[in-house]
Amino acid sequence: MIRMARPYSQFVEAYDGLVGWQFFRRVRRAFAALARTYGIRFESAADLGCGTGLFACYLNRCWGARVYAVDRSPEMLRVARLRCDGPGVRFLQQDIRALCLPEPVDLVTANFDTLNHLLSPPDLHRAFRRVAANLRSGGHFYFDIVTPCRPLAGERTYRRALRVPWRCLEQHVRWEPARRLLRILVVHRWAGGGGPVIERHAERAYEPARVGDGLLAAGLVIRGVHDEATLAPAGHCPARLIVVAQKPGGARS
Ligand SMILES: C[S@@+](CC[C@H](N)C(=O)[O-])C[C@H]1O[C@@H](n2cnc3c(N)ncnc32)[C@H](O)[C@@H]1O
Repeated sequence: MIRMARPYSQFVEAYDGLVGWQFFRRVRRAFAALARTYGIRFESAADLGCGTGLFACYLNRCWGARVYAVDRSPEMLRVARLRCDGPGVRFLQQDIRALCLPEPVDLVTANFDTLNHLLSPPDLHRAFRRVAANLRSGGHFYFDIVTPCRPLAGERTYRRALRVPWRCLEQHVRWEPARRLLRILVVHRWAGGGGPVIERHAERAYEPARVGDGLLAAGLVIRGVHDEATLAPAGHCPARLIVVAQKPGGARS
């Protein structure tokens, strides 16, 4: 019998080995470089869609910030809590669209497609407004986002089998250009038998102009837009952008 499961509730155990660590290394390299470029300084931060907590932990341990790690998935947060169990990281189960931190912070981050999980422009713009409301004046918002420009390197579908201990995992990805949607099915089959368990994920790709409009409407200033693959300023429409925005005011630059 096939069983449906909440996004990330089963994938969580395989997440770091399959994608988490690999992408974290890219995110860390990009953040270190761009934080230097833009003179981003912070004592407090929130990582939205923190997943298994790799980046939230890094902000705390390597940058000395107190960090709020926010995710809506209880399963992802459970792994994140085990990873960084010190007092410097606090975990919040919240939806980004209703973000409400205990205090305004100097930096908000959202990495590895987190904002693409918001499936409509009004949801994305709502999230931007909540970020602005939870940032200190002068604070930065740093995020990546997948665009509709070659999101699967030009392919419409792909399927890959992933081997992890005690289970077979298949990922089926389909790009629907008209709706700007990436539909992802993750099928889990355990070695001990039992029917497959399926997680359905969806991501919305966003045009750079739409992202820009939303940030400006939220009262944020765009300081830079970069091609995530090269970190060069984004001159065309790369597959994934990194955006550095700032809330006006305050002494920080
Ligand atoms: C692809 S994972 C990225 C995780 C982590 N940022 C990383 O770099 O590995 C996306 C994460 O965003 C979370 N997420 C998706 N939509 C969300 C929402 N509306 N509010 C809070 N978290 C959300 C998911 O639960 C998941 O942990």
